[in-house]
Amino acid sequence: MTDTPDTPDTPVTLITGGGSGIGAAVARRLLDAGQRVAVTGRGEARLRAFSAELGHPEGLLTIQGSTAEHAQVVAAVEATLKEFGRLDTVVANAGFATHDSVAEGDPAGWTEMVLTNVLGPALLIRASIDALKETRGRIVLVGSVAGFVNTPGNIYGATKWAVTGLAENTRREVTQWGVGVTLIAPGRVETPFWEATGSLPPGELLTADQIADSVVWAMTQPAGVDVNTVVVRPLGQPN
Ligand SMILES: NC(=O)c1ccc[n+]([C@@H]2O[C@H](COP(=O)([O-])OP(=O)(O)OC[C@H]3O[C@@H](n4cnc5c(N)ncnc54)[C@H](OP(=O)(O)O)[C@@H]3O)[C@@H](O)[C@H]2O)c1
Repeated sequence: MTDTPDTPDTPVTLITGGGSGIGAAVARRLLDAGQRVAVTGRGEARLRAFSAELGHPEGLLTIQGSTAEHAQVVAAVEATLKEFGRLDTVVANAGFATHDSVAEGDPAGWTEMVLTNVLGPALLIRASIDALKETRGRIVLVGSVAGFVNTPGNIYGATKWAVTGLAENTRREVTQWGVGVTLIAPGRVETPFWEATGSLPPGELLTADQIADSVVWAMTQPAGVDVNTVVVRPLGQPN
């Protein structure tokens, strides 16, 4: 891509669910490094508050929309390209848990969880792949340790097992185009993810910044290096 004032060479990252927690921590890290970042989320107030907290930086674009809606994901990619002129990395980070079980939980919450956690990353990959081919960019999927271990009745975990599978299936397709794929699978992290349960889980937790460090580390490897799977637990988390 030509380096003109309208399309400068500064890398651009689009992060779904980037108004809080891990996504927001990644956005902060990248903005601090001088990169340009677009973040999405369903709640406009949350996005506004995040931008205000950072002092409305020039390199930050906030886009209201759901990662579970195809048209809204396409619109988010288009808005990012229109604003910044290129796309180097997408981070499929938006996700949540109903924190219930397959035998005793409430199925009413499962549709949105499955669509957000499983369909969302697939829609983001589909919508961004042409732009990523141009930059030989990177797809980062935020999975979970729950997508590597079995826990009784954990339907959220099943969505993350799907993300684990999607990451490698995607890698096998897009590596031919010079596009990298990184699956970051965090253990327990202190974020609003746990708000619905009323308290943080017992034991040690990572900070969102510690996971953001892993994301940025994978993104900043030398050309030709593709970090594929990173599982990061807090020391002391047994499963
Ligand atoms: N915290 C942990 O212990 C932990 C561990 C392993 C993996 N993870 C994963 O890490 C990722 C980030 O979670 P987090 O811990 O940082 O929690 P978080 O602070 O709750 O972040 C999730 C973000 O996703 C957004 N979101 C939810 N549904 C969305 C949708 N359909 N479309 C667009 N945005 C949506 C939320 O904003 P809106 O509600 O405004 O849309 C929120 O900003 C998730 O995929 C989660 O499963 C978390």
